[in-house]
Parts: sequence; structure tokens; C-alpha cells
Amino acid sequence: MKFFIDTANLAEIREAHELGVLDGVTTNPSLMAKEGIQGKNNILAHYVAICDIVDGDVSAEVIATDYAGMIREGEELAELHPNIVVKIPMIREGIRAIKYFADRDIRTNCTLVFSAGQALLAAKAGASYVSPFIGRLDDASTDGLLLIEQIVDIYQNYAFDTEVLAASIRHTMHLVKCAELGADVVTCPLNVITGLLKHPLTDIGLEKFLADYKKVNG
Ligand code: E4P
Repeated sequence: MKFFIDTANLAEIREAHELGVLDGVTTNPSLMAKEGIQGKNNILAHYVAICDIVDGDVSAEVIATDYAGMIREGEELAELHPNIVVKIPMIREGIRAIKYFADRDIRTNCTLVFSAGQALLAAKAGASYVSPFIGRLDDASTDGLLLIEQIVDIYQNYAFDTEVLAASIRHTMHLVKCAELGADVVTCPLNVITGLLKHPLTDIGLEKFLADYKKVNG
């Protein structure tokens, strides 16, 4: 399973990269705004800065919601760097745009997916990744992990090439469950990745090992 970090914060991206387990990055307009990145040129430059840190796919989202606008923006984003994946919302015009890009070998990530039917449509159109938002479903008292299970099953039934990129991950159990269910990728905040390190018995065990060593060796 690939680990992507879901942020536009360069320091966090660097930290995850230095841990040696980072396979890519996802961003969205909210995450870019959170970092104060504004204006087209700054936004494009920021994507390049992210690509310079990580040797893996970087999802960059279009703002347009009309077909022609998505094509225009997506082509511009794709030209920035070979690792850019054009992130397209799950709307009617978005599906058309995904098909357009698939026909031209430009990779896409279909975002804001909340149902198995939407995921099926994204795969039919030729999306490289589909992003079901499990945390937001949980927030609406609907089991987000169940959706991951459904999509993985459907894609396996028909051997779709589209990768299941579990998004809107809130905690380490989401991540571990996604691994059990066979998601291809998880994208999550840095604290979820580093959260995997934590276990009190590891800390207690290490403390004891070092204390015992010190007793004998001084
Ligand atoms: C996915 O690509 C999105 O950027 C993201 O995972 C959304 O997560 P949120 O629900 O925590 O905003």
C-alpha cells in the first residue's frame, strides 16, 4: 500500500519524506489556502516545489467546473512536472474530462467520491486514482470503510486499472483498516503516519533494555 501525505505544507512533506515511507502527495484548494498560497503563479510554483521534494505522484486539483476549463487547467498542471496527477471532481463534466485525459495518457485522480456508483463511473472513464472520502462519510454517520471495501471488490471483479486512494483519513485505525481491505493508497495528515509509530509497550520495552544495558556497562 502506498502512503501519500494530504497537505500542501512543505515542512510536513519534507518530514514525511525524510522518514523514508512517502510515496506521494495529495492537495486540494482548501489545503493550498490553509498554507496561504494564492494567485495562479504562486499556486503553480508551489506544486513544482512539492514535486522537487517527493519522488512520487502529486495530485493538483482543477478549480474550473466546466469541461473546457477543466481541460485547460488540467493540461497546464500536467505540463508542470511528470509526477503531477490532475485532480478532477466527481461531476458530470469531470467524468468527461477524465476520459479526455485518459485518452491522452494524462493521469487523473477523481476526487469527492462518496458512493460505489461514482467510483465505478470514474473507473469506466479511465481515472488513474479514485478518492473515496472516508472520514467525511463517518462524520455523516455512514461507514466510510464499507465504501472502501465495496470499491475494492468492484474493481477486482472487473480488473480495473484505477487505484483506490482512500482519502479523508482521520486516524491510524482508518489507515490500518484500509490496508486490511486492500486499498492501493492512503492519503492522510502527517500525524496519522507518525501515529503508526506509537505503542507504550515499545517505549517501556526500550527503556528497560537501555536500563539493563547501563546496569552492566555503566
Ligand atoms: C483528498 O485528496 C482530500 O484532499 C482529503 O483527503 C480530504 O480530507 P478531509 O476530509 O480531512 O478534508
